Amino acid sequence: MAEIVSAMRAVSRVPVTVKCRIGVDDMDSYDALHSFVATVSQEGGVLHFVVHARKAVLSGLSPAENRSIPPLRYDVVYQLVRDFPQLRFTLNGGIKSLEEARAHLQRGVSGVMIGREACANPWMLATADQQIFGEPCPTASVTRRSVLLQYRDYLLRLDESLLLRPSVRNPMPALLHSYAPSAPSAGRSDSLLTPSLALVLRPLFALVSGLPGARQFRNSMADAVAKQTAALKGAHRPRGPSPSASEAAAACRAVGMAAARALDHAVEQLSACGSGSYLDFPAHSSHAHTTPQPEGSSSTLRCG
Ligand SMILES: Cc1cc2nc3c(=O)[nH]c(=O)nc-3n(C[C@H](O)[C@H](O)[C@H](O)COP(=O)(O)O)c2cc1C
Repeated sequence: MAEIVSAMRAVSRVPVTVKCRIGVDDMDSYDALHSFVATVSQEGGVLHFVVHARKAVLSGLSPAENRSIPPLRYDVVYQLVRDFPQLRFTLNGGIKSLEEARAHLQRGVSGVMIGREACANPWMLATADQQIFGEPCPTASVTRRSVLLQYRDYLLRLDESLLLRPSVRNPMPALLHSYAPSAPSAGRSDSLLTPSLALVLRPLFALVSGLPGARQFRNSMADAVAKQTAALKGAHRPRGPSPSASEAAAACRAVGMAAARALDHAVEQLSACGSGSYLDFPAHSSHAHTTPQPEGSSSTLRCG
């Protein structure tokens, strides 16, 4: 490992960090972890470790199970902080709130990494600058509605961002591929490039999750985009000539525009379902983070 990170450092202009767990299978003693960190930092020159505070069980647990079944051992990371004061440790695993993040920071870790909760509840991060860094809240005027409007602009720019910066996180090259197999960067058969807008829409769904009407919001967005995507694919005859890159760009743009239009409608629906005030609470207000009654509960308006 020290050799690997040395080689990486030799060719990298950015600092090389290591993300690891606190152990693997039977190799889960603190001594083994201590020795790993000592070797990688001293011989590999790594100064910053991101530690998922669970061990990995390689035999018997799936990746998803490995993110929840092995118990979290934050104390082990705190011990690393004490034993290696010259190094930086970012603590990861199971953090679900800014309060929890702050508690870990008070124990001496340099940072925290929040994974699944940031995806499931991105609104949680709206006040991070204020709560974690004590900075005046640059997001004082941010509301869920203002975020939705900014996301609408993003949807309208989909063609550029999708065509110019394709990546495994970017689902559109696959749509582009289905549209224009000959276009540059469109030929990857990588299974990660699923032809799906689901990844683009997921943060939107997470932003409104739990609000009255969230289900209708989800369905109406998903339906509109699915119809548009199907219409585009239908318009392209599989055995006909491949569309040009500019036609493919127009296709992506059309899907983005359909998503933006659907978003306008879906936001109206949310308001009609009684979520208007939740959409308009500024992020820093105490009301903004209260969770409304779950959908379908007796006090929730039912919307068509
Ligand atoms: C879908 C998914 C994919 C992940 N892929 C990686 C990965 O490629 N490399 C990695 O180091 N961790 C990966 N992780 C683990 C996360 O970085 C993180 O360590 C883990 O989710 C625990 O943090 P959390 O409880 O805040 O989510 C992944 C997690 C999820 C949910």
